[in-house]
Amino acid sequence: MERVLFVCLGNICRSPLAEGVLRHLVDERGLAGSIDVESAGTGAWHVGETPDPRSVEVAARHGVSLAGQFARKLSPMDYREFTRIFAMDAANLRELKSHAPTGAVARVCMLRDLDPEGRGDVPDPYYGGPEGFENVFAMVDRSCRALLDEISP
Ligand code: 4NP
Repeated sequence: MERVLFVCLGNICRSPLAEGVLRHLVDERGLAGSIDVESAGTGAWHVGETPDPRSVEVAARHGVSLAGQFARKLSPMDYREFTRIFAMDAANLRELKSHAPTGAVARVCMLRDLDPEGRGDVPDPYYGGPEGFENVFAMVDRSCRALLDEISP
């Protein structure tokens, strides 16, 4: 059983989109029940909030629902309970590595290590316009498809 955790800074823009997209693809491929998907933030500013409306909107445009998601902060337990943890950008990855407890199980890497169009950050869209969210969606969608191909070919 794979347990996948997506991590960004606030857990309101990028990682909720990744969670929604992977859940959607899991359902679409008939894999429901075989892969767990969650998301978290390295920061606590937005804990308890629903995803940013701009993420909800870009997801809906692509037929993906973010309903039922609430921001939470990364916990030390996450390193034991998840098998894969994906950072959205290099700063998230540094945070993840610097807080890794002893006994960690999860493999930690950048989400776009899986992007067939190239590696790098999923850029933080918080202070930009709507095209930033469309760009995030495209990167996350490509990477999540590749992740499922790897987990369940
Ligand atoms: P996220 O975007 O990390 O993709 O959820 C951000 C959300 C909030 C903030 C920064 C990034 N913030 O500074 O409050």
